[in-house]
Amino acid sequence: MPIPQFPQHSRGWDDLSEQMSSFRERDVDWRNSRTGLYVFHAGDDVLEVGAKAYNMYHVENGLGLKTAFPSLNRMYGDVIANGLALFGAAEGGGDMSSGGTESIFLAVKSCRDWSVAQGRDVQGATIVAPYSAHPAFDKAAHYLGLEVVRVPVAADHRADLDAMTAAVTDRTIMLVGSAPCYPYGVIDPITELGVLAQKNDLWLHVDACVGGYFLPFLRTIYDEQGLALEPFDFRVDGVRSISADLHKYGFAPKAASTVFYRSADEHAHQHFAFKDWPCGEMTTPTASGSRPGGAIAGAWAVQNYLGQEGYTERARQVVAAQKAIVEGARQVGLQPLHDSALPILALATPKGQMGKIWSGLRKQGWYLGGVQEPEALHMMVQPNHLKVAQELVEALGSAVAGSQTEKDPGGPRYA
Ligand SMILES: Cc1ncc(COP(=O)(O)O)c(C=O)c1O
Repeated sequence: MPIPQFPQHSRGWDDLSEQMSSFRERDVDWRNSRTGLYVFHAGDDVLEVGAKAYNMYHVENGLGLKTAFPSLNRMYGDVIANGLALFGAAEGGGDMSSGGTESIFLAVKSCRDWSVAQGRDVQGATIVAPYSAHPAFDKAAHYLGLEVVRVPVAADHRADLDAMTAAVTDRTIMLVGSAPCYPYGVIDPITELGVLAQKNDLWLHVDACVGGYFLPFLRTIYDEQGLALEPFDFRVDGVRSISADLHKYGFAPKAASTVFYRSADEHAHQHFAFKDWPCGEMTTPTASGSRPGGAIAGAWAVQNYLGQEGYTERARQVVAAQKAIVEGARQVGLQPLHDSALPILALATPKGQMGKIWSGLRKQGWYLGGVQEPEALHMMVQPNHLKVAQELVEALGSAVAGSQTEKDPGGPRYA
């Protein structure tokens, strides 16, 4: 195909927006909450606040937040302070980043450079992680000259403590636990991993990219019911860093995540400084140079719009939606891998059927995720799913009933 020419003439906004809307024709139907991944919908009001705030600061640049934009610096500081408070930090520090992958990269880099400062040889050093950990750890290790040792999970799909212990060698610098992990939606035994980390002087990172801005509000609901939510954050000794995504259950516009450290010393290893060029010293805290002011403003506005009350209310909607979907799914023969109120739902499908059921749902306008081991349909349940839970159950019923004649596309690809 010939390479198209660069646009020659200016075009008006009406013309552009019409064409851009037409580009969306084959996109997934997230506005009607028919997606189980990629987007997070906590109501049109929340989307509007995020979009307005993003737009208000879409030109400002986070690179200059300490120099040119006290406005961004104020909001950035608030978002970090809010996270530290939420995760029970006594001191420490943190930063905003572009997403979970960058937050994890930054935590791994900090751990590596902190280990060097302790006099360790880190060439080819290992990160011991459960098989269920997000690939972002492998990406970080690939960039940073480290190696991830993935350890099979226990029968309950949580990190297997004995297997993790056995995988630790004198080359290990980091342990990973997720709260919860993406594939199964279960929280790893963070307290026990904290003990293992302390015993071996290892850095424990908790990947709370999904749960970071959900679990603290689920805890409020549990407290009302006299239930206990296991600790997953800095309240657990041995946890040195946490990644938590604002653009997931923080309901902020993308690209927005946070990474936190127990101490300022550990945090300091994240930063990169350079001065041997014509413009003098340049210190950047994250992997990016320029950073979207809109993402900082959007996260600040949504956090303040919702507050503890709003997030707790949205968590209640997630719990109710999850319950309704699970009850309906059971009636059409699909069992959840785990009984819990956590937002990630994995519905076990009969052997060889996941791709077919997934495809049947896709044809009815639904876009869910999938797990291969064991086979399961997968979704991150969101507040707006409460309105469509019954419709999803009906679609599941038809997809299960029609799966014998459905072609198997091999399940969904994530990217
Ligand atoms: C547990 C977990 N960690 C990390 C990530 C990576 O986040 P992002 O896609 O924002 O880079 C995800 C994404 O779904 C996740 O579920």
